[in-house]
Amino acid sequence: MRLAVVPGDGIGPEVVAEGLKVLGAVAPDIEATPYDLGAARWQRTGELLPDSVLEELRGHDAILLGAVGDPSVPAGILERGLLLKLRFELDHHVNLRPARLFDGVRSPLAEPGAIDMLCIREGTEGPYVGNGGVLRRDTPHEVATEVSLNTAFGVERVVRYAFERALARPRRHLTLIHKTNVLTHAGSLWSRTVEELSTEFPEVTVAYSHVDAAAMYFITDPGRYDVIVTDNLFGDIVTDVAAAVTGGIGLAASGNLDVSGTNPSMFEPVHGSAPDIAGTGVADPTATVLSVGLLLDHLGRPELAKKVNAAVAFDLSTRDPKATIRTTEVGDRLAALA
Ligand code: NAI
Ligand code: MG
Repeated sequence: MRLAVVPGDGIGPEVVAEGLKVLGAVAPDIEATPYDLGAARWQRTGELLPDSVLEELRGHDAILLGAVGDPSVPAGILERGLLLKLRFELDHHVNLRPARLFDGVRSPLAEPGAIDMLCIREGTEGPYVGNGGVLRRDTPHEVATEVSLNTAFGVERVVRYAFERALARPRRHLTLIHKTNVLTHAGSLWSRTVEELSTEFPEVTVAYSHVDAAAMYFITDPGRYDVIVTDNLFGDIVTDVAAAVTGGIGLAASGNLDVSGTNPSMFEPVHGSAPDIAGTGVADPTATVLSVGLLLDHLGRPELAKKVNAAVAFDLSTRDPKATIRTTEVGDRLAALA
């Protein structure tokens, strides 16, 4: 098993070190190779993702990423030139974001109830493809377009994956989130696809929420959701709400998957490089460790993923909520528990 590791910037290297500690405890056979990408490399060399590095990354079984970004880099450079480029080049069409409220974790909701959702966001289409342009810039007549791209192929593969995941869970429930009443062209493609595939998965019950209603239900009644499938933009937004109600950015894990297995999938905490706390040793590495769990599951080692998740669950249920988190101590505890 060959793992490419991109520690990145800010707290990225700090949390990745702990993720690798836990990974080493359960899977000592995995060989990790570090890659220097991110704001620091761009500052030093002007390079974002050289073709030669991309080719090397393709030769690995998976990628673990910390976070990239720094206040000194103008917005959009790393997002488009590195993160989105990786997603598109490696065909990461499924963005997997579980949101589970662990015992012992305080939700900002007064009565959260049980929350255990698996959000599946399309990763390579929608309004994120760069399909647009600007005319008459900086004039009163400026025109800007950002066209959402939805293909039958792209929608089918992500919806099929969502059905498969729903089928493997106890509740077997899948909700499509969209805005089919207003975005009727793309909305129709998404809802027809769900309808058609539902005949192949008769055991899975299907529901639908408009995205604005979903934003409300994520706060008022998150327990109604099991597996969710949605487009790139809606998924970006609602998964942040899901993360917030299940304990926040320090716990939110994600995977960017090429389900076909042609390209390596990439696993990363949802949070960024947190320059405000970088170097102080207080970043919570749990989101990265949970991402390592997703990675192990994806690489066909579910028994090891279970160990990692159980270690996190135990640690969270026994944490003193008032104590300051020390990054390396959390990693040590999780590695010992796993
Ligand atoms: P951020 O997620 O880095 O930080 C938001 C807030 O959450 C900060 O107060 C931070 O201290 C806190 N936080 C984040 N991770 C934490 C952790 N593990 N433990 C405890 N507290 C944590 O988002 P922000 O500030 O908007 O972005 C900072 C930089 O990160 C920017 O350059 C941005 O572009 C980049 N970024 C990179 C991402 C990636 O690499 N996938 C994703 C999001 C942002
Ligand atoms: Mg986001």
